[in-house]
Amino acid sequence: MLIAVGSDHRGIEFKKFIINCLIDMKLECKDFGSFSAESVDYPDIAESVGKAVVSGQCNYGILICGTGIGMSMAANKVKGIRAALCIDDFMAERARLHNDANVICLGAERGEAGVKQMLNKLFSTQFEGGRHQHRLDKMAKMETSC
Ligand code: RB5
Repeated sequence: MLIAVGSDHRGIEFKKFIINCLIDMKLECKDFGSFSAESVDYPDIAESVGKAVVSGQCNYGILICGTGIGMSMAANKVKGIRAALCIDDFMAERARLHNDANVICLGAERGEAGVKQMLNKLFSTQFEGGRHQHRLDKMAKMETSC
């Protein structure tokens, strides 16, 4: 399993923490930047990570900015991305179970508490399908009709 990871300048240190968590979990990751404290625009990183996921180059994406909000908005503009802003393991579990999230967005300013539990839920929870599938189909349709 290959995880695409990206952050803006606000999330650089947090991204290092996430990468170490992924290594501890024996997951491979590809770092899409940013790599310095210089200000960058989060949509640029979200686009790179989103494209890596929809192309199949990576299985999931993790995006980090100050709050996770900008990254989630930007990532959801990439066709095929279902990005979920998660603040705890409950949200991470539901994002997979009900929404088949393929990108999770995290806020660096929220801090590291509970993040390992979130990652565990993210990678151990399968999409439930069933009644949720046609809702995802409707969202996919919106990508061309709205
Ligand atoms: C960057 O200043 C900040 O706006 C960004 O990291 C993020 O919090 C946006 O949602």
